[in-house]
Amino acid sequence: MAKTHLTFTLNGQQVDVLVEPRELLIHAIREQLQQTGSHIGCETSHCGACTVDVNGESVKACTLLAVQAQGAEVLTVEGLAEGGELHPVQEGFMQEHGLQCGYCTPGMIMRAYRLLQENPNPSEEEIRYGMAGNLCRCTGYQNIVKSSKAGAAAMAAG
Ligand code: FES
Ligand code: FES
Repeated sequence: MAKTHLTFTLNGQQVDVLVEPRELLIHAIREQLQQTGSHIGCETSHCGACTVDVNGESVKACTLLAVQAQGAEVLTVEGLAEGGELHPVQEGFMQEHGLQCGYCTPGMIMRAYRLLQENPNPSEEEIRYGMAGNLCRCTGYQNIVKSSKAGAAAMAAG
């Protein structure tokens, strides 16, 4: 199948890759650009393991064709830390142990990141509602909620 050039910004860096028209964004990110932090769980838009930020919105990267990201700003979990310092949301997940096997964690962190950009001080109910599209089969979600709250507190503390 004929490939086409795809140019977009990934974690602050301009990238240019050749993709097939049918290729999903998650595959371009993981296989062409070797950013394997974003996971593939279901590939059918149910689990949220592939959640990334596209132009300031949470997107399940298995629901988007790679070519639809032309010119976009894409942020993955690899792009959150700065200068060797974890992002407060990552710190929150570490502090409150918001994971067990860790498979859902990159997607959870990216979703929590966007949720907190939009609502810096969410209630527990708002966190649960806001993260309802991300599934975890290990934790029971309690510590994921606590982690998101800890991330919010750390962001507020600056
Ligand atoms: S892999 Fe994309 S939602 Fe499950
Ligand atoms: S920590 Fe295992 S799926 Fe969430």
